[in-house]
Amino acid sequence: MKSHFPLPLTLFLIVVIGCGKAEQERREAAKKNLEEIGKALEQHSAKEREATVSLAIFEKRILPIFQSAKPSSCSECHLSGVDLKEYIRPTQQQTFVSLVGAGMIDTENPDESKILRFISRSPDKPNLVTDKVRKEEYDAFQAWIRAAVADPKLLASKSEAAPIGPQIPDEVIRHARRDRVLASFIDNIWTEVGRCAACHSPDRNQKQVKEHGKQVSWISLNDPRATLSYMVENDLIDANKPAESLLLMKPTLQVEHEGGQKMVVGDRTYKQFRRFIDDYAGIVQGKYKQANQLPSQSGEVSVVTEIWFKIEGVPAKYDKMLLQADLYRQTDSGWSEFRVASSDRLVFGPKNLWQHSLSLTAPRGSKWAKEIESKRLPPGRYLVKLYIDQVGKLQKDYATKLGDDDFVGQVEFESRWPAGYGRMTVVKFPE
Ligand code: HEC
Ligand code: HEC
Repeated sequence: MKSHFPLPLTLFLIVVIGCGKAEQERREAAKKNLEEIGKALEQHSAKEREATVSLAIFEKRILPIFQSAKPSSCSECHLSGVDLKEYIRPTQQQTFVSLVGAGMIDTENPDESKILRFISRSPDKPNLVTDKVRKEEYDAFQAWIRAAVADPKLLASKSEAAPIGPQIPDEVIRHARRDRVLASFIDNIWTEVGRCAACHSPDRNQKQVKEHGKQVSWISLNDPRATLSYMVENDLIDANKPAESLLLMKPTLQVEHEGGQKMVVGDRTYKQFRRFIDDYAGIVQGKYKQANQLPSQSGEVSVVTEIWFKIEGVPAKYDKMLLQADLYRQTDSGWSEFRVASSDRLVFGPKNLWQHSLSLTAPRGSKWAKEIESKRLPPGRYLVKLYIDQVGKLQKDYATKLGDDDFVGQVEFESRWPAGYGRMTVVKFPE
């Protein structure tokens, strides 16, 4: 039978079909090969890319945090001692190796890295400005850490891990936390500003504001945090020269004060103000490097009251000297072991007079410390011990305490301790 196709065409078809199979295999092999080469190539360039990506992120987003003059978001809670800058070194490699060494980067789960947890800590009351800074810092570190852990060169880096992060003990970091600083402010200053409220609290000083201007309202009503911020921002507290803070200079008449003398250098209120202001300055200046440099807390707490106490017949020779009156309460087992109230002020010689409002005092943490918050003194029998600074030793060293050398006498008496200037408890100066 004759072929339907002419011979040359048949031959051609045989060749094509036969070769077609081989060619297809070849092509497939080649394609596979190409794919593999491609994949390898792709992986290679991915690594290259990651490497450049992590470096680019480091240079564009991490280094600027390091170089910035502005404090990081950490400062919202840490007054000093801690800053994000301390977790950055000048090069990507040093930074990475040191952060890994310090356990701050988790190379397996980059998003779980401790440094990210530090950055994400935010206060209960959000602040739009710091929230924005915090988000930028977080995004930058997250992007960089993700890229960095994907970079085998960085992972394999043999450079030495250097210490990174704050190099001060946790006690010092704790002491410099803003919540601790505020607690100390409340303890030492806020509890005393009742003395200044008549002229400096916005609910009571319309007349002073009219005469002297808005700056007399330095108390923020019921808001110690805002009051502290105001004092710092308006230089009432001077962190560079703490002893020269207006808050100390004005009421002690070291500079002119329209309100007159409200404190004496070395009296209890002054000591408390200094305790806070000196410590605040120390924290801001980064003075504390070791736990044993931290100031100890006062062993006594106090509240200002409206209870007035007056001593008559004070010898005129004591004029303008600081008289300190410590009160002890009669208990079943004798006089109380600690003073339950105290007050100190200058003697007014011409009228043989000393008078002042009482502060209730108690050992910190004692049962009595809770009770004084009522600002009341139980009626009953009391002993007052009187001390007078006759040699001006407090002027020389404000931290000195009046003691046995300064003791001038004591009186026993009864009182119901009514509050108010018009209802003073009065005793006679001992003969
Ligand atoms: C919202 C407040 C807040 C912010 C913001 C904040 N911290 Fe803290 N930080 C704390 C508190 C509270 C502690 C006490 C730790 C505890 O008791 O859990 C602390 C403790 C620390 C400690 C002591 C050691 C430790 O492991 O507890 C370091 C270090 C620290 N923070 C670093 C930072 C860094 C770095 C930043 C900024 C990136 C920062 N913090 C931001 C509140 C904050
Ligand atoms: C009887 C009213 C009165 C009392 C009480 C009083 N002050 Fe003043 N104080 C004034 C007046 C008025 C001014 C504004 C004029 C001036 O600077 O002397 C002032 C100013 C000040 C200033 C300067 C504020 C500023 O920004 O310029 C400080 C600080 C200050 N007083 C501290 C105190 C302290 C601390 C107490 C309490 C221990 C106190 N004052 C009690 C009346 C008073």
